[in-house]
Amino acid sequence: MSSAPQQQSVTVIGLGPMGRAMAAVLLDRGYAVTLWNRTASRADDLVARGAVLAPSPAEAVAASEAVVISLTDYAAVYAVLEPAAPALDGRVLLNLTSATPEEARAGARWAAGHGAVQLTGGVNSPPSGIGQPESSTFYSGPRQVFDRHRPLLEALTGRADHQGEDPGHAALLYQIGVGMFWTSMLSYWQAVALARANGLTAADILPHADETANSLTQFFAFYTGRVDAGEHTGDVDRLAMGMASVEHVLRTNADSGVDTALPAAVVEVFRRGMEAGYGTDSFSALVEVLGKSAR
Ligand SMILES: NC(=O)c1ccc[n+]([C@@H]2O[C@H](COP(=O)([O-])OP(=O)(O)OC[C@H]3O[C@@H](n4cnc5c(N)ncnc54)[C@H](OP(=O)(O)O)[C@@H]3O)[C@@H](O)[C@H]2O)c1
Repeated sequence: MSSAPQQQSVTVIGLGPMGRAMAAVLLDRGYAVTLWNRTASRADDLVARGAVLAPSPAEAVAASEAVVISLTDYAAVYAVLEPAAPALDGRVLLNLTSATPEEARAGARWAAGHGAVQLTGGVNSPPSGIGQPESSTFYSGPRQVFDRHRPLLEALTGRADHQGEDPGHAALLYQIGVGMFWTSMLSYWQAVALARANGLTAADILPHADETANSLTQFFAFYTGRVDAGEHTGDVDRLAMGMASVEHVLRTNADSGVDTALPAAVVEVFRRGMEAGYGTDSFSALVEVLGKSAR
């Protein structure tokens, strides 16, 4: 476990599950940690371990060159940092708050306007992965700032992955992955609801759910080359088959009395693919349908 060079000072703003895990790991690694959180009591156990709770965001920012920001969204970032703007000059804002790429770019411009540099981060891990060697974060922004703070970034997640100078790019990569996460997890909750409506528990279907989810990576590998080549040959699957299949899924959910919003949305996308004339092509052609706005 690497420790902080010469008791480097770090400020952590935002003590939700993420910020708390980060502050705890930084204390473990020997950093001098200053905290600020809207709900001050969330700092109690960290203060008991040696962190300093700043009385205001401005004093928290003033305490360290490196300021880790872990808030719910950028509206919260501005709510906290706007009153502290005069203290931002010369600071490095390691902004690990979820945002759209445009919001991240605007945040970087706002920081620059106050003499600070933003490194945007998208953390690919739940709080339990913070401090673990296998967990990773996408960063984008100035490379030299990333390099200078690399030991700190690698204390937060073992892998710190610089993805270019555009402060929006880390946010884009993060949203790509997190979109897959929420959608996949929602499909899992749908599966559990359907199982329950038929007298099965989540534990009963776990082996089947695991096998299904684990099989997806083979599909990614198989379709990636074809999709990048614009090829949707219906040699191993055809959209018309998929259309019939997703309608069976929808009807099974409806017959079981569970909510059908998600399976109905899936049927709707397949239907648009059929209407666009892709019935005899692979269902990978849906990527062409999804690439065009419905409006
Ligand atoms: N948790 C995860 O598994 C996970 C994984 C990857 C990335 N992330 C991202 O990491 C960030 C932090 O996650 P989290 O789970 O710790 O989030 P969270 O539970 O939403 O808490 C984040 C912090 O935001 C503060 N906050 C929210 N609105 C505020 C406002 N208007 N003014 C001042 N403070 C405000 C909260 O303060 P209070 O304590 O006063 O409420 C809290 O300290 C998010 O952007 C999230 O999307 C989370």
